[in-house]
This record gives sequence, C-alpha cells and structure tokens, in this order.
Amino acid sequence: MKIGVFDSGLGGLTIVKTMLENLHGAEIVYIADTINAPYGEKTTEQIIDFSTRITQYFIDEFHIDALVIACNTATSAAITTLREKFKDLTIIGTEPGLKPAISHSQSKKVGVLATPATLNGEKYKLLRDELSKQYKVDVFEQACPRLVQQIENGEIDTPKTISMLEDWLSPMREAGVDTIVLGCTHYPLVGESIKKVMHNDINLIETSHAITKRVNELCNNSMKCENENSLKIFTTGKISGSMVEMILGKKYEVEYIKI
Ligand code: DGL
Repeated sequence: MKIGVFDSGLGGLTIVKTMLENLHGAEIVYIADTINAPYGEKTTEQIIDFSTRITQYFIDEFHIDALVIACNTATSAAITTLREKFKDLTIIGTEPGLKPAISHSQSKKVGVLATPATLNGEKYKLLRDELSKQYKVDVFEQACPRLVQQIENGEIDTPKTISMLEDWLSPMREAGVDTIVLGCTHYPLVGESIKKVMHNDINLIETSHAITKRVNELCNNSMKCENENSLKIFTTGKISGSMVEMILGKKYEVEYIKI
C-alpha cells in the first residue's frame, strides 16, 4: 500500500509519526511543499493549484494508492476539487477536531487555533455554527499568522513564540476555555508551549489518530501484516533536518524535488 502524504512543511509529519506507529506495511511518501509555505496565508486558488500539482506528481512518480492531505488548510481549500479531478484515488483529509473538543469540554468553552484560511473556509464555518448551537458551546477562534514560520524555524519555545501565544491565548485563559482544537498540523509541535501559556490547565485536541484509523479502514491495512512501514521524505524548498529528526525521533534523508 503506497500512501502519498503532503503538507506545506513539517506539520504533516505529526500525522506521519502516528501512521508509522500504528499502520503495518505502509510505504509512505511525504512531500513538504515548503517553497509555497505558508498555505494559510495564500488564496484558495493558489492552494488548489499547489495541491493539484502535488497529487499529480504523486500519481505520476510514485503510483500511489491513497492520498492523505496532512494539512487542514489544503483540505479546506482543495479536497472537493481533488476528489472531482482524481476520481479513482482514495483521498483522506484533515479537519479541525471541533466535535471531539466539544465532548471533552466541561466548561463548554472551546478554543480553535488554525490558519486564517482554515477559519475562513465555508465548511468549517458551517460546522462551527451547527455544533455550537446544538451543544450550546462558546467557540473562541484565533487565527495564528506567522506561527507556522516560527515552527519551521525551530522556534518551538523561544521568547518570541511564547509571546505570540500569550497574546492569542490569554483571552481564552481568562474566559475559562478548557479545551483547544489544534486546527493546523504544525501546532502539536508547540503543544507544550501552549500548555505552559494556559498554565497546564487545558485539553489539546489533534486528529492524527483519527486520520490513521481512517487510512487503516479505507486501505484495508491488516493489523496482522508483518511487513515494516517505510518512509521517504521530499521537499520543494528549505526544511530543517533537525526538526524532521525531532518530530520522527530518527534521522531521515530529505531529497529536494521540483514540482
Ligand atoms: N500545516 C498546515 C495546516 O494544517 C498548513 C500551515 C500553513 O502552511 O499555513 O493547516
């Protein structure tokens, strides 16, 4: 089973890590589209264009069986177009885990951190309106421009990152938010910093396990399969090798490609 996974950069590796820990015999090919990052500050048309070219590249070069869009922003902007264009391909997207967050929350005050593009997406807005009304929950949204670049630069807990988080999170802390949705696959990488700013009194919701489960179901990945997983990583621009190693817990060769 060959699975293509992509994101604008390092973020999707948080999903790959969970896939490597839970799937069996999966051949994973990862593309970090860092030349076009951050996606969250681009137009819908641009994100559709990047996502379409990457998917075509996966099909032509690697003959993938399934695609995982390991990016909330690209899922929101491009999954419908990709499903129409690549009808034979199994495509799995990543969406902010608002529903699990609502069921976790005791205070019925839930925060959502995501890129500007994700929070502006129609699908997300419809889901938020429906769920907040149905479960009588207050949803506190915060777009986090420039946080993806901080993470790509390895600035996980530097004073600058902590001060950005403090500005964004202090209103949630003061309002009694007890659960925060990490609506961008980069954000689990600053999970500890978020906890620190929220005085450790917070549930963080990310979706890598739900996506891995979905891949397992759709690709009939047998838990009994003895084969090892494999991972190849490609990038379209600069990427931090030490961050890749930090996320995956081991060194990987990263090969440069032009798409
Ligand atoms: N990691 C991505 C997401 O889940 C995209 C971040 C970006 O490039 O802005 O939204």
